[in-house]
Amino acid sequence: MSHTIAIYNFKGGVGKTSTTLNLALSWARSFKVLVIDCDPQANLTLALSNTNNHQSNLFTISKKLLHDGQPKIEPLEISYYLHLIPGDYQMAALESNSQFISFGHIIFYKLLGTLKHKYDFILLDCPTHFGVTVKSFLVNTDSIFIPAIPDSFSVNGFKKLLHYLSEIEKDTPLNVLGIYFNLFRKHTLHHQKVKKLAEKELGKLILDQHVRESIRVSEAHDSHQSIYNFLEQSEVAGDFMALSEEVIERLNSMSLDEVIKEHGVEEKCSDGQSVLNQTVN
Ligand SMILES: Nc1ncnc2c1ncn2[C@@H]1O[C@H](COP(=O)(O)OP(=O)(O)O)[C@@H](O)[C@H]1O
Ligand SMILES: [Mg+2]
Repeated sequence: MSHTIAIYNFKGGVGKTSTTLNLALSWARSFKVLVIDCDPQANLTLALSNTNNHQSNLFTISKKLLHDGQPKIEPLEISYYLHLIPGDYQMAALESNSQFISFGHIIFYKLLGTLKHKYDFILLDCPTHFGVTVKSFLVNTDSIFIPAIPDSFSVNGFKKLLHYLSEIEKDTPLNVLGIYFNLFRKHTLHHQKVKKLAEKELGKLILDQHVRESIRVSEAHDSHQSIYNFLEQSEVAGDFMALSEEVIERLNSMSLDEVIKEHGVEEKCSDGQSVLNQTVN
């Protein structure tokens, strides 16, 4: 069965693109994986294909879907198991296009509906801003996975994010797979405290596995060649591999409704205080 996962956080630099890339690489060892680069910056596209200048990309496909009804959609083959719908800077322009604002969710429904049966996993690398593209994709995904970094993590901020998501997802239940800590330094006391407190406040939403901070992640981003060796060669690759296994275990196990019931998102957001800010210096 195919599963569509949006990798999202409204903060930048938390590792959305790195997470998408490395989950995709881990899963593409045994599953058929499609990644869709929804970010106009197209960093994922650059990392996987060495260029972010593809003739067929999410923008051209979205335009065709808007005007042509049912065009043929052929993702770029990175390997037999890993395919890509490249990103393009023009996706930014769609954010203010009135037709896209009205029909974006239908366009992505068609796109994902056409492709779903061909893949075990479809991963969406979302941009940071909370615009039409993100909203239109989120209403069509099976679940959302959230990378965070311990330095700037706030339990209250996270609850606000869940609240936003529940607002878009009024009619369709959204499965929040969870939140994991990236750029983690296990010998840094502050990071240990943040993770413990997050686990206390958010319970099962926090994944056991974190991903350590390592220069190998940026190196893999920068070198198309090294990506394929990446998973073999470094400790951080082991972290991503373990993360990909934990995510699979979690699939379909938690719904946003349960999360809101369990943590009282709306009530706790209204006090404007971050639990972490109160207790961790
Ligand atoms: N675990 C990590 N260790 C070291 N650098 C990382 C790690 N994860 C991400 N990075 C680097 O941090 C920067 C931001 O990551 P990125 O995945 O682009 O975040 P986002 O997509 O959320 O903006 C990139 O330069 C990336 O290479
Ligand atoms: Mg990114």
